[in-house]
Amino acid sequence: MSGRFKNEGQFARKHLGSMRFESPLLGSENKAVKVNMFDLTGEVAVVIGATGVLGGAIAEGLATAGAKVAVLGRSSKRGEARVRSILDKGGTAEFFVADAINLSSLKTAREGLSSRLGIPTILVNAAGGNDPRVTVTPENPFEKISIDDWRENFDLNLVGGALLSCQEFGPPMKENRKGSIINIASVAAHIPVSRVVAYSAAKAAVTNLTQFLAREWAPFNIRVNSITPGFYPGEQNRRLLFNEDGTMTPRSELILDHTPMARFGEPPELVGAAVFLASEKASSFVTGIDLRVDGGFLSQSI
Ligand SMILES: NC(=O)c1ccc[n+]([C@@H]2O[C@H](COP(=O)([O-])OP(=O)(O)OC[C@H]3O[C@@H](n4cnc5c(N)ncnc54)[C@H](OP(=O)(O)O)[C@@H]3O)[C@@H](O)[C@H]2O)c1
Repeated sequence: MSGRFKNEGQFARKHLGSMRFESPLLGSENKAVKVNMFDLTGEVAVVIGATGVLGGAIAEGLATAGAKVAVLGRSSKRGEARVRSILDKGGTAEFFVADAINLSSLKTAREGLSSRLGIPTILVNAAGGNDPRVTVTPENPFEKISIDDWRENFDLNLVGGALLSCQEFGPPMKENRKGSIINIASVAAHIPVSRVVAYSAAKAAVTNLTQFLAREWAPFNIRVNSITPGFYPGEQNRRLLFNEDGTMTPRSELILDHTPMARFGEPPELVGAAVFLASEKASSFVTGIDLRVDGGFLSQSI
């Protein structure tokens, strides 16, 4: 913030105060026009962790809505497969290898994708997951968890899950005065879910960072929000949810008993929330929120 401004409010008003919202549903003569509020044509979306189940579904959804999509992750095999799937459906996508907890790797990916697809306008942070080494069990109680294992999982979900990518992709968005950042949180961010202690702490920090950046970057026309998925079977939680023979674990039964909609989520069910938050036409005044797509899990009580 420049020293010319007494406070951040003044700074924001200087940069944004002259911006007026023009409803895409009303033409210049205030006549209703047909506009697709969820059209992402012209946007460049970076999805970190698009090699995985949830990030992959979101990447496909953003591409279907018209965005050019950069698929980021460490696994080129799964990344290329995701790209092929998007291309087969008529979308535009390219894979860029990136390690979310390595800033120089993110920088290389950003430079590559910016020259191939354009300056990113949408960033989805979907890298992360739980780690059995920091899962509390009778054999591995909380007090026995090693600090190194804790740090690794905490860092993956906070530092890799949101912090470094925002540091790398935020500045060009600031310069462009345009951006939508979507962090993937978890129900564990809101209530500390049993057993996954470092993961819960990190996801709580992700929603906190989301609100911090929403405030910090609003003057630059960057919106920062998060999505809280409920429980969606994926690779990183398979061992917690299913036995080796594919039957549900007692934990799965507890989760479904606690979910008003009494089922797991399907990854494509996250797409509507992601496209809404990504689209400036649909969510121009939405920043700092956490959008729950959890079948009612966080609304359950007695
Ligand atoms: N599934 C659920 O029920 C659920 C619920 C709430 C929140 N979430 C969150 O949603 C996100 C996606 O989870 P998911 O269920 O889709 O799991 P997933 O299929 O295991 O996907 C996670 C992805 O994260 C990527 N990743 C991990 N470490 C990375 C690193 N250092 N650099 C770059 N990418 C990395 C992996 O890609 P590479 O191996 O290619 O690097 C992987 O594709 C996570 O943040 C998770 O915590 C999931």
